[in-house]
This record gives sequence, structure tokens and C-alpha cells, in this order.
Amino acid sequence: MAHAGGAYPVLVGAGALAELGHFIDGPALAVVDAVLPELPELELPGLRQLRIEGGEKAKTMAGALRLLAEFERHRLGRDGTVVAVGGGTIGDLAGFAASIWLRGIALVQVPTTLLAMVDSSIGGKTGVNTDGAKNAVGSFWQPRAVLADTRYLASLPPEQLAGGQAEVVKYAMTLDPGIAGLEDLEAVVERCAAAKARVVAADEREQGLREVLNYGHTVGHAIEAASGYTVQHGRAVAWGMRAAARISARLGLCERSLVETQDELLRRHGLPGERPPVELAAVLRATASDKKARQGRLRWVLLRGMGRAETGHEVPDAVVEAAVAEILVD
Ligand SMILES: NC(=O)c1ccc[n+]([C@@H]2O[C@H](COP(=O)([O-])OP(=O)(O)OC[C@H]3O[C@@H](n4cnc5c(N)ncnc54)[C@H](O)[C@@H]3O)[C@@H](O)[C@H]2O)c1
Repeated sequence: MAHAGGAYPVLVGAGALAELGHFIDGPALAVVDAVLPELPELELPGLRQLRIEGGEKAKTMAGALRLLAEFERHRLGRDGTVVAVGGGTIGDLAGFAASIWLRGIALVQVPTTLLAMVDSSIGGKTGVNTDGAKNAVGSFWQPRAVLADTRYLASLPPEQLAGGQAEVVKYAMTLDPGIAGLEDLEAVVERCAAAKARVVAADEREQGLREVLNYGHTVGHAIEAASGYTVQHGRAVAWGMRAAARISARLGLCERSLVETQDELLRRHGLPGERPPVELAAVLRATASDKKARQGRLRWVLLRGMGRAETGHEVPDAVVEAAVAEILVD
């Protein structure tokens, strides 16, 4: 994965964790999600482990402060390394703490959920939530390496796997249609990780192309917010993709058949699932307030064709309303 400051390897496969020793050259602390099985590859000289609870509630400023206190207690110096072993929440939290400790020390990402393997561990975005907003505090801090050891996926609950598959469908629809035909999960992770790395290498700070990765997230976030965050992120994104594809077709950017293709890809993974417990009006209100927060301009990511997304579209309110009504009411 190339970025302004250099490049780092993204290793994918069962056993990738065995390479960890190559990316640690001083004292190191592994911040590990407590639900994970213990793997012998984490027993390395100089590497200590801190097991903490993962999940969205862990991703707070208080959680980051606790980690900084642990870094101090473990005497992590400038030659120290933080190894984030967990899903996106642990990766974002430990990555954020690593980025501000001593103005930034080395970080290795060991993603353990499908979502983290295909998305959050790559690209250098870290952060925590505030009471009012997700990922409101954060930094860009590129890891030294990403080790996606697919053995971890064996213990992942089906619901989490489905959530990750929503992002996989996102990559197929926006960047690489070939992903849709892959059966083997390791191949899927490899190909999605490569797609993300290409996009981030071209636009590290999200000034253009990287916005493609937000496909489905405008209505997805609105559904999450309108449901009081009871709808899982991946499922909300799947609903959001359904809306975005319909907007694309309504605006004549793509054929209506693309909507059916996407619906079918989502269905294969049981997505989006049950209709979310939200009122149409609440979703539209959440979308409108997002728009207001961005000076009245929402930049939609829409589809031109399979694997071809475009950023920066402004969409008339009536088209948004019709598409959201179509997915939620029909
Ligand atoms: N930094 C980025 O670029 C970026 C991109 C996308 C999403 N994110 C963030 O990622 C987070 C979501 O990530 P996630 O879906 O991985 O969530 P998560 O870290 O909360 O993991 C989901 C659940 O699975 C458990 N878990 C993790 N690995 C497991 C395993 N191998 N076996 C069994 N259980 C396991 C966790 O304890 C948690 O309960 C969100 O906070 C989101 O904001 C960040």
C-alpha cells in the first residue's frame, strides 16, 4: 500500500500473523480484543499484551486515555510499536492512541473482522467517537504493516460476517466487478484490500476519489442515526446502497438492471435483511441535517455502471425522497 510517506505491506492469508516479528524492532504492546482466541504468534519476545473489550463503546476519548496510560506503564518509547488486534473499533482506537503517543509511534494493524480486513485496517484513518458524533476525533496515521490473518474469521459471528459482506458488495459495485464472482473468502479479502489500497494511494486525505468508499453511506448513516444506532452499520450501508443505486437509475446515470444486480448480490449474503425500525420521515430528516452540516451540499456517490462509481453528485431532494421511500415503503 503506497502513501505520501512511503509504503507498507498488506499481507493476507491464514497464518499471516506469523510475519509479525518482522515489523517489531523494540518494545511492543498488542492491544487485543478480549473475545479473540489466544494465538501463539502473539507470544513474541518484547511483545506484551493488553486484552480489552472491543465494540463501539470502547471507541471513546476515555478509552484512548486509558490506552495512553498503559503505553506509559509499559514504557513504550519512540522505538515502541502498538499492535492493534481486533475489529475496526480496536484498530481505530489503538491506532489513534499510537498516533498521538510521543507524537506518533509505529503501528501494526491485525484486523480480525471481515470489515476490518477489507476496509478499516487499510488507509490510515484512526479515531474515536464523541457523545454526539462518530469518528469526530481522529488522525491520519498509516500503519507499518497490515496482517490480515484469515484464521480469525472462523470465530466471527454470522451477523458480523454479513456486515462485512456489505462492504465487499460495495467494492464490487464501485471499483472491481470481479469481486462479485469470488467464492473464497481469502481471495475476497485480498482483492478488496487491493482495491482500497489503490484508492487510498491516489487520494490519501479524501479530497476526491477516496469518497467512492462512502457509496451507500449517506442514507446508511441516516438510517443508523434514525434508528438510534440499533441497526448494524453493514446492514445500514446495504440499505443505503439500495437507495443510492435507485437514485443513480432515477437520474439516468445507469440502467435499472444494475439495481437488480446489486439487490441480488446483497441477497446472497442475507442483506439488507429485515426492514429497519425507522420512519421514512426520520431518515429523510437525518439526511437533510447531514446536508445542512455540509453547507447545503451533499456529495453523493452514484453508479454509472458495474464497478464504476462517481463522486460529487448533487441530487434533488425529490429524487432522494422517492428512492428512500421506494426502499423503505415498498
Ligand atoms: N478507519 C477506517 O477507515 C474505518 C473504515 C470503516 C469502518 N471503520 C470503523 O470500524 C468499526 C467497525 O468495525 P467492525 O465491524 O470490525 O467492529 P468491531 O470492532 O466492533 O467488531 C465487531 C464485533 O466482533 C467482535 N470480534 C472482532 N473480531 C472477532 C473475531 N475474529 N471473532 C469473533 N468476534 C470478533 C468484536 O468484539 C465486536 O463485538 C466502526 O467503529 C467504524 O467506524 C473505520
